[in-house]
Amino acid sequence: IKLAAVVPAAGTGSRMQSEQPKQFIEIQSQPILSHTLAAIQRAPQVQRVFVAVNPTAINLYPRWPEAVETVSGGESRAESVLMGLKEAARQGFSHALVHDAARPCLPLSVLLDVIEQGTLQDQGAIVALPVRDTLKRAQADSLTISSTVSRERLWQAQTPQVFAIKPLIAAINKMGVAHPGLTDEASAMEFAGYQPRLVMGSYKNIKVTFPEDIELVSYYLNEEIN
Ligand code: C5P
Repeated sequence: IKLAAVVPAAGTGSRMQSEQPKQFIEIQSQPILSHTLAAIQRAPQVQRVFVAVNPTAINLYPRWPEAVETVSGGESRAESVLMGLKEAARQGFSHALVHDAARPCLPLSVLLDVIEQGTLQDQGAIVALPVRDTLKRAQADSLTISSTVSRERLWQAQTPQVFAIKPLIAAINKMGVAHPGLTDEASAMEFAGYQPRLVMGSYKNIKVTFPEDIELVSYYLNEEIN
């Protein structure tokens, strides 16, 4: 097994209402992306990291850490991931750990668990959490309840997601990078007939999406995460 990490970081972060993409916002004087890369690189199994970035944003991050390379991002998250996977495959990596640039508070124990589970078999593994709130489906006006959705056996997918690279590239190509249902790597693998494993994640592993997430992330980054 030769494991690389692929980090999609080419999004615009339109929901953040900030001038720069969210992964470049600084917390404790470091861009969120730096914290994310440091979190991933705590796993000794990760030999190299391929970060998919928008070429116009590359200057926002002048100094890349050791063992980190950039590739050009794509139109969609899936396309950005695919670019990184192809470069990793070209360099002889057999497995990839895909992790969102916007999840800097990844606990070490979760990282190590998903690497172990994801490299066992071709089906791979993803970090996820059982849904904890009651779920409502809204009516077409989107402000009136239509029904309550049972949360039994429902999980929220997070990243990292770990797969063998060849079947993952084939699965993404089969589904198509522009497919609206391709929102994580597991959905492509499911589309191709695999049943990836669920690995228990952490509520600390939040994806910075809205401005109020920044405070929580800086709180968690201040603690010793693991
Ligand atoms: O927008 P969302 O929060 O789903 O983005 C998840 C991750 O995918 C982010 O790290 C973002 O930078 C990345 N992304 C990308 N290329 C795109 C769109 C999103 O790498 N075209």
